[in-house]
Amino acid sequence: MLVALRLATAATHQAVELLPGMVRLTGPDPSPADYRRYLRLMARVYGTLEPSLYAALSAPRAPGAGAADQRSPRLAAERISALGLRPKFPALCADLAVHGLAPPAVAPDLLSPPDLNTTLGGIYVLEGSTLGGRVVARRLRKHLGDPLPGATFLDFHGDQAAAHWKRLGLVLDGLAADGLIDPDGVIAGACAVFQEVYTMLATFDEDPPAP
Ligand code: HEM
Repeated sequence: MLVALRLATAATHQAVELLPGMVRLTGPDPSPADYRRYLRLMARVYGTLEPSLYAALSAPRAPGAGAADQRSPRLAAERISALGLRPKFPALCADLAVHGLAPPAVAPDLLSPPDLNTTLGGIYVLEGSTLGGRVVARRLRKHLGDPLPGATFLDFHGDQAAAHWKRLGLVLDGLAADGLIDPDGVIAGACAVFQEVYTMLATFDEDPPAP
């Protein structure tokens, strides 16, 4: 699943990396203001998407739900906890606070209510971002100094990032093998959510710079 997801979303990932704010962040001379701006952008993305995706994952089946709800089955609690998910929006808010910045005003609402495949595709996107965050963190420490203030989000899984990622992949593969998710649906969901992330980042990037 992870390989297929990476291939399907590669072009959008690259487009995200090429957004002006991201280019400045990963370029030869990132400034502390570039980092604050990145935190603000990512907080708006996570604040908008994460609550909807997490809620959709664990929402109980509606009472009396009939055959129509079969299109959007829910996972058993142990399957959800096997994903090892922890919300990252609070980490971004904490990082903003370190820089004296308030949490962004967000209206959590996306694709509501997303089906299970779309939800897991979206979770792939938000989880994968912390994998790339390791690389971003290394670069920023080189240019801005170590310790890097307010890096809870970038360091989210610490040296467990690769292990966490592998586990997510295994759980997704297991769900697909057990017929609980449709891989094509998850891939389509990941593409849709990644595109949404791109649109949000591109739009927010036009905001005035963070102080
Ligand atoms: C400056 C911006 C970014 C850079 C430089 C970057 C860089 C990277 C790198 C280097 C990896 C591979 C990490 C590894 O294999 O150890 C990665 C993976 C990933 N990134 Fe990003 N990333 C950026 C932004 C984002 C954003 C905003 C998102 C989505 C919210 C995102 C989603 C992902 C995903 C889903 C993967 C996993 C790909 C896979 O399946 O292996 N990235 N990123």
